[in-house]
Amino acid sequence: MTVDSAVTAIAHPNIALVKYWGKRDEEYILPHTDSLSVTLDIYPTTTTVRLDTALDRDQVTVNRAPATGEMLTRIRTFLDLVRGMSGRAEYLRVDTTNTVPTGAGLASSASGFAALALAAAVAYGLDLNPTGLSRLARRGSGSACRSIFGGFALWHAGTGIGEEGDLSSYADPIDAGALDLALVVAVVDAAPKEISSRAAMRRTIETSPLYAPWAESSHQDLADMRAAITRGDLDAVGEIAERNALGMHATMLAARPAVRYLSPASLRVLDCVGQLRRTGIGAFATMDAGPNVKVLCRGGHAERVADALRSLSDTRSVITARPGPGARLPDGDSR
Ligand code: DP6
Repeated sequence: MTVDSAVTAIAHPNIALVKYWGKRDEEYILPHTDSLSVTLDIYPTTTTVRLDTALDRDQVTVNRAPATGEMLTRIRTFLDLVRGMSGRAEYLRVDTTNTVPTGAGLASSASGFAALALAAAVAYGLDLNPTGLSRLARRGSGSACRSIFGGFALWHAGTGIGEEGDLSSYADPIDAGALDLALVVAVVDAAPKEISSRAAMRRTIETSPLYAPWAESSHQDLADMRAAITRGDLDAVGEIAERNALGMHATMLAARPAVRYLSPASLRVLDCVGQLRRTGIGAFATMDAGPNVKVLCRGGHAERVADALRSLSDTRSVITARPGPGARLPDGDSR
């Protein structure tokens, strides 16, 4: 058995302030709309890969347990793609540790595929710049293309499908200047979701009469969000993020059958956010494919927001995040 040296990569989840919801090309993971996110400084994923000539398939563990089912298939399909690009044939041992609950709408696939893209690219000797790495991560999970970058990132939907679309669809970092943003995450339920975001997205596009109007309004949200970031207007950033997220959930509620990720506990968090606003604290909510709510506010208000969320009876845990780093190799690894 030959085992080459290991490559480890670390990546953080990102939360979209203007959401990605819906693909125009499922194979290449090309979205209908541009999206904009902030990479967090919490819940890192650490992934170590080792080339192993003795393997006849990729072996994957997640949090020390063998990966199975759809997750394993997605990882193997992704690694086939990386091998195809590199011309190499050896399989990998992949060991991933998530510090975030997997599959609970807390963006574990974004940090997961960003870390895997970087580790596998290095292990197979692909010489990719950040744009190339972002395009590669996108093929694992769309939102992962944004976690290649720290801070704020804009994922360009690009144009066309297939190879043409592939070249034009990647994330870029955005300068958010002095925006003093905190994201307070209220975990109300850490159980894996009943329907994957991938399947829910597909059903929404195919059956929801609200999808097209939301996608259309998302263009304006993105333009308004960019302008708000440029002027450092945190209240506007929060307002746009909240309306965009609520609109995305409306598209799902109108799908047939409906997709409902928000629970009564999520709505209680939304009520609390509304109350905070009435007391003069600029707090705004965003929710992804799960019941947990992330509350945007200025750094100086984060503690008061966290206390308010903690006081709700069904909040399991509250953790405050700030903008965090992009995908990277550990300190001292200069490959
Ligand atoms: C609601 O990136 O997990 O979090 O591309 O099918 O892997 P796939 O989907 P994924 O979807 C994320 C959807 C979202 C919104 C967002 O992150 O923009």
